[in-house]
Amino acid sequence: LPGEMFGTARRNSAGCDLTDISVREPLLRRLADLERKRWTGGEGNGERIEIRSPFDRAQVVGEVVETSPADLDAMLSRAAAAQAAWDAIGGEARARLLDRTADLFEAHREDFYSLCIREAGKSLPDAVLEVREAVDFLRYYAAEARRLATPVQLPGPTGELNELRHHGRGVWTCISPWNFPLAIFTGPVAAALAAGNSAIAKPAEQTPLIGALAVRLMHEAGIPADVVQIAVGDGKIGAALVSHRLTSGVAFTGSTAVARAINRSLAEREGPIVPLIAETGGQNAMIVDSSALPEQVTRDVVASAFQSAGQRCSALRVLFVQEDVADTMLTMIRGAMEALSIGDPRLPTTDVGPVIDADAKASLDAHVAELRAAGKVVAELRLPPNNGSFVAPVIAELPSLASLKDEHFGPVLHVIRWQSGELDKVIDQINATGFGLTLGLQSRIDTVAEQVAAKARVGNLYINRNQIGAVVESQPFGGEGLSGTGPKAGGPHYVARFATERVTCIDT
Ligand code: SER
Repeated sequence: LPGEMFGTARRNSAGCDLTDISVREPLLRRLADLERKRWTGGEGNGERIEIRSPFDRAQVVGEVVETSPADLDAMLSRAAAAQAAWDAIGGEARARLLDRTADLFEAHREDFYSLCIREAGKSLPDAVLEVREAVDFLRYYAAEARRLATPVQLPGPTGELNELRHHGRGVWTCISPWNFPLAIFTGPVAAALAAGNSAIAKPAEQTPLIGALAVRLMHEAGIPADVVQIAVGDGKIGAALVSHRLTSGVAFTGSTAVARAINRSLAEREGPIVPLIAETGGQNAMIVDSSALPEQVTRDVVASAFQSAGQRCSALRVLFVQEDVADTMLTMIRGAMEALSIGDPRLPTTDVGPVIDADAKASLDAHVAELRAAGKVVAELRLPPNNGSFVAPVIAELPSLASLKDEHFGPVLHVIRWQSGELDKVIDQINATGFGLTLGLQSRIDTVAEQVAAKARVGNLYINRNQIGAVVESQPFGGEGLSGTGPKAGGPHYVARFATERVTCIDT
């Protein structure tokens, strides 16, 4: 089985085969029934907030109660009080509860699909992948809890016995983004719990209902209510959690700017010095040389840039294509983009759904308007009439990467041509952004692959395939530089970073 080398032999989730009509038809009927359901989440004394669909602002998905600052203090105290007993039950017992949570996530997968579509605007295939990834995180980190439960015997050259054990650090604050409202919500929480910590999970303000269902199922699986709790609200709640004296570690996925603010807050607060694990932005590129296969480049560029409406941290933003083949490649990519269907994510035929909210749309629209005014747009899809937050996929040509300052988190593909013999300069431009998350390379020349792998400072390099959809344990995911602190999610060093290490030395 995969993973045997780390002692975590297990299989990733099989998900749901949407190509099988006997699976798809009943699923679509069930999802149509679930459309009427109004979900709830959160408890406490804060404001009531209605959650609406990004594809149709008239559709109410449910309602949450925000966590108030007074609730927060009590939550953290309960989490801190419960942590020692949770740590003491040991890695095997915690792993069993995480595995049981994974089983419950699978049993409720239709609820999650429905919520991922309605609350986050995901397409059905993306919703299926989302649940699979969350389940994989739970089972993989459960396996890691078992592995780390065994004390490590260390050399005792003068006859003493030396033993290293992992323990929970206390309460982890886990702040997650809306683009993977279940998978990235669940991953850091599961890792914190696996390592013997309690956790306060703060979902993105756009997607609290998915997080609320996930936490309900964790409790149903038997994880004590005080050990994992959800804090619902906007960035102010996140900031209050980070600066709270009982927070013993912060796992954050979101923008580089917010990660910096968290770092500053942690540096300035009273109390223990605590770690930050941050997964942040990217300015992800793909390099295509003249040996690449045009059909494959087309398929992989379209998936990398436009799947999930470009709202993946891993998504392709800048395509570097060698001048000799650029016109051919761009004609094909443009043709494939124009065949995409954009619209209602409830329809199984939809390829590109909405962006998350009106603010995201406004910022992307402003960027595209600038590109258009400068005459840089070379292809653009037309939007169907809609009542939500949609941005049509766009391709724009730029002279160099220096003119692209920010990450534009949506379906906008920038293209830059490069001349034969200038591969090193291309890699230098990519490294100069300071981001280092994903990089794609399409080339049939081994030495080119070696050159890029040796020189590019990125966390995940994908050669001759798309650059999205890292698989838990197979492609541990995460970047460097402005893209994050490491360790990689779904990798063998992740759970240990949520723990503290204690060494006992016995003189015999
Ligand atoms: N893990 C996700 C991916 O690989 C991050 O965006 O696509």
